[in-house]
Amino acid sequence: MFALSGSLLSLSAIFFQLSSASRCSPSVIQKPELVGASILGIQAQEIHNYSTVSLGPGTNDGGRYTISFCNVTVTHTHPGWNDEIHTQIWLPLKEWNGRFQGLGGGGYSTGMGSIYLTYAVAQGFASASTDGGLGTNSGASTIPTDLSWALSSEGNVNWELLDNYATKATNDMAIIGQQITKSYYRQPPKYSYFSGCSGGGRQALMMAQKYPDVFDGILAVAPAINAQKFIPAGYWASLVMQETDAYPAPCEVSAFTEAATKACDKLDGVEDGIISSPGLCDIKASDFVGKNYSCDGVQKTFTASNAKVIQAAWSGSLSVSKRYGWHGLNKDAALGGYYVSTSCSGNGTCHATESDLLSSWFKYLVAKNLTFDASSMTKNQFFDALHSSISDYTSMLGNNDPDLSNFKRAGGKMIAWHGLADEVIPPNGTTEYYENVLKGDPNAHRFYRSFEAPGVGHCYGGLGPIPNGAMSQLIEWVEDGHAPAVLHATKGSNDTARDLCPYPLRQKYIGGDSRNSTSFTCI
Ligand SMILES: *[C@@H]1O[C@H](CO)[C@@H](O)[C@H](O)[C@H]1NC(C)=O
Ligand SMILES: *[C@@H]1O[C@H](CO)[C@@H](O)[C@H](O)[C@H]1NC(C)=O
Ligand SMILES: *[C@@H]1O[C@H](CO)[C@@H](O)[C@H](O)[C@H]1NC(C)=O
Ligand SMILES: *[C@@H]1O[C@H](CO)[C@@H](O)[C@H](O)[C@H]1NC(C)=O
Ligand SMILES: *[C@@H]1O[C@H](CO)[C@@H](O)[C@H](O)[C@H]1NC(C)=O
Ligand SMILES: *[C@@H]1O[C@H](CO)[C@@H](O)[C@H](O)[C@H]1NC(C)=O
Ligand SMILES: *[C@@H]1O[C@H](CO)[C@@H](O)[C@H](O)[C@H]1NC(C)=O
Ligand SMILES: *[C@@H]1O[C@H](CO)[C@@H](O)[C@H](O)[C@H]1NC(C)=O
Repeated sequence: MFALSGSLLSLSAIFFQLSSASRCSPSVIQKPELVGASILGIQAQEIHNYSTVSLGPGTNDGGRYTISFCNVTVTHTHPGWNDEIHTQIWLPLKEWNGRFQGLGGGGYSTGMGSIYLTYAVAQGFASASTDGGLGTNSGASTIPTDLSWALSSEGNVNWELLDNYATKATNDMAIIGQQITKSYYRQPPKYSYFSGCSGGGRQALMMAQKYPDVFDGILAVAPAINAQKFIPAGYWASLVMQETDAYPAPCEVSAFTEAATKACDKLDGVEDGIISSPGLCDIKASDFVGKNYSCDGVQKTFTASNAKVIQAAWSGSLSVSKRYGWHGLNKDAALGGYYVSTSCSGNGTCHATESDLLSSWFKYLVAKNLTFDASSMTKNQFFDALHSSISDYTSMLGNNDPDLSNFKRAGGKMIAWHGLADEVIPPNGTTEYYENVLKGDPNAHRFYRSFEAPGVGHCYGGLGPIPNGAMSQLIEWVEDGHAPAVLHATKGSNDTARDLCPYPLRQKYIGGDSRNSTSFTCI
C-alpha cells in the first residue's frame, strides 16, 4: 500500500517535471467524458504573447491584452446528429486563478471566441467558448446575425443544431472545459462561473434553469430569454412602417428619441440625458406632432404618420395583442439600428433597411423559406407568425422557467442586469422573469439578484454607467458570501458612476453632483 502510493507520488513528481509545453499536448491531455457525445479529436498547443482587443460580456472597459496560454480545441459529435462541435479551452500558462469561466455567445451564435476568451484569460481564468457546431463562428470570427444553420433544407428545421444552440452545446462546453482544466492543471477548478450577454445572457439563465449544478456563479447580462417572442415582435415597428407607408428619416427617428428623453429626463430628479424611471415616462410620440425639430440645421416638423411608427417601437406589439404581443423599448433607447431602421436617398425619399437579426427569424424559423420577404407580411400574417413562433419554440428557446429551486439547492448565485436603454431586447422581459421567480420564491434575492442599469444600451453603450465589476462582485458573493447590495457601475458619459439597485428597488436622486454615485439612493 505504502509502496503503491510512493510510486504514485514519484509519478506525479515526474509529471510536474515535464515542461509546461509538453503538458500542453494532445497526448498528455485526458480525453473528456461526456454522456451522449463522442470525442472526435483534441488539439493542443502553447500560444505565446497572443495579443488582441478583448472585453468581458457586458463591459465597456476592454482593451488590448497580451496573453500566453495552452490553446486546447476539443471536437465532438452527438452520434446520430451528424454535428461537429468545436470547444475552445484557453488555459493560462502562468498565474491561473484556480477558476473556470464559460463564456456565452450573442445573436445566433453560442460563442464569441477570442473576443471574450482573451480578456478572461488575462484575468487568470481557465476559459471556454463553443461554436455550437453551427458552422458560422469557429475560431475568432463570429457572424451573430447568421441564422442560415437553422434549416437542414427548405421547409425543414435542423432541430439538432437548434438544440445545440438552445442548450446542449453550452452545457457540453462547461463539462468538457471543466475536465480539460482539471487534466491540464492536475486539479479541478475551485469555482466555476458563466458569463454572457444577449444570446449569452439567455445561455446563462438556461444553465441555471436546466443544468443547475454546473456553475457556482452565473452572470446574465441583457438576457435574450423569450427569443421566440421578442425577436419576431421586435419587427412590429417595421410592419407599421410598411402598413402606413411612412419611413421616418434616421434624423427624425433620433429627434423623437431626443424629444422624449428631454420630456422625461427630469422625472427621476436629475437632468443627465438618462431616463432612470421609465415607468413614470408616459409621453406619447403623438404629443410631438406639429412641433419642430432640427435635422442637420434644417427645421422640420414631426408628422403624425411617423409618430405612429415610433410609438409602435415604444409600445411594442403588446398594445395590439396581449396574447401574441411583447413589450416595447424604453424611450431613451436608440431606435435606428433595429426597430426603426431606415435610410434615405439623395432626393430625400426614405425606405426601410432590414435588420437581419429580426427578419431572419421569420425567414428561417417561421416561413422556413429562403426567399421569404418579411416586409411583405400583413398585420394578420405577422400575428400568425408570432403565434406559430411561440407555439413551436417556447420550450426550446424560451428559457423562462421561473423554478430555480435546484440552482438554489446547489448553492448557486446569480447576478442579472439589463440596460434600461437597451435597443434590441426590451428590459421589461428580464424584470417580468424576475417577478415570476419571486412569485414562486419570495426569498430568491438570497441567491439571485436582478439590476436595472439606467441609460445603458444593449450589453454596453449608451450614456449610463456600466457595471464593469459585476463578475468581481459575483465572485465575492460566491466565495466570500458577500451579496451585492448594489452593483457598482462606472465609465458612463462624463465619467459618471452609479450604484445600480436590485429589483424591485429603483434609483432616486438625493442631491449633489449627478456624476457621483453617492448622489443617488435605492428606494
Ligand atoms: C513574449 O513577450 C515577452 C515580453 O515582451 C518576451 O520576454 C518573451 O520572449 C516573448 N515570448 C515569446 C515566445 O515570444
Ligand atoms: C487554437 O487552436 C486551433 C486549433 O488548432 C486553431 O484553429 C486556432 O487558430 C488556435 N488559436 C490561436 C489563438 O492560436
Ligand atoms: C457632460 O458634461 C458637460 C459639461 O459639464 C455638460 O454640458 C453635459 O450636459 C454633460 N452631459 C451629461 C449627459 O451629463
Ligand atoms: C415596463 O414595465 C413598467 C412597470 O413595471 C411599465 O410601467 C412600463 O409601461 C413597461 N414598459 C413597456 C415598454 O412595456
Ligand atoms: C417650424 O418649421 C417651419 C419650416 O418647416 C417654419 O416655417 C416654422 O416657422 C417653424 N416653427 C417654429 C416655431 O420654429
Ligand atoms: C428618389 O431616389 C430613389 C432612389 O434613387 C428613387 O427610387 C425614387 O424614385 C426617387 N424619388 C423621387 C420622388 O424622385
Ligand atoms: C417563399 O417566399 C416567397 C416570397 O415571399 C414566395 O413567393 C414563395 O411562394 C414562398 N415559397 C413557399 C414554398 O411558400
Ligand atoms: C462623491 O461624493 C462623496 C460624498 O459627498 C465625496 O466624498 C466624494 O469626494 C465625491 N466624489 C467625486 C468624484 O465627486
